[in-house]
Amino acid sequence: MSEQKNKWNESFKAGRDYNPMNQILLDTILGTIKNDRRTVIDLGCGTGDAAIKLAERGMTVVGVDWSADALEKAKLKTEIAKIGTITFKEVDLNNLAEVAFDEPVDIILSKLVIAFVEDKKQFCIAVKKLLSAEGVFVVQTPVLHDGVQYLPEDKPGIAVKYNEFKELLNEVFSEVKEFNHSYYGDKGDLVTFIAK
Ligand SMILES: C[S@@+](CC[C@H](N)C(=O)[O-])C[C@H]1O[C@@H](n2cnc3c(N)ncnc32)[C@H](O)[C@@H]1O
Repeated sequence: MSEQKNKWNESFKAGRDYNPMNQILLDTILGTIKNDRRTVIDLGCGTGDAAIKLAERGMTVVGVDWSADALEKAKLKTEIAKIGTITFKEVDLNNLAEVAFDEPVDIILSKLVIAFVEDKKQFCIAVKKLLSAEGVFVVQTPVLHDGVQYLPEDKPGIAVKYNEFKELLNEVFSEVKEFNHSYYGDKGDLVTFIAK
């Protein structure tokens, strides 16, 4: 098992959870869908908060993570919520292009995950291939701005470089919108990009 994967498993075993998906993001995602098929893949779903909220709104959801501990918790939460439409898959997102899914997909969500993906361009290309013609990639991430000096306590490791990542999305997708939600301290923003 890779050292990184091990760290995530240990963190979930210790009871760690991450920011729940807020109402604004949920409504923004749902507002992007023009057809009624409404299929979603949540890449890096953690313990399933977003996956469950989307399934509760009637969407068919696949939650993907490489942490078996996170997925175990997500399945338990799904059972408690009595939601029957979520499938969970244990996958390393660094190999996304090699994984088979039922395609095409309306929404691919990746919330607080992209910073941990090794080859972000290959990942975005793999995402694009899974999407329907109208499909959207919703990626929420902390970002770092050029010219700002970040200290270890700013946790730069959980963020991506804003300019670099936006350029990459524009290379792979034909339309990119963004929503700037809130601030982490006074240096970093949390941004949701919606690409199609
Ligand atoms: C900060 S958590 C966010 C979880 C969830 N999206 C949320 O917002 O609550 C990051 C997640 O990405 C997963 N992750 C990180 N690297 C991964 C990889 N290479 N393959 C699959 N999952 C990965 C971790 O296991 C963890 O569940």
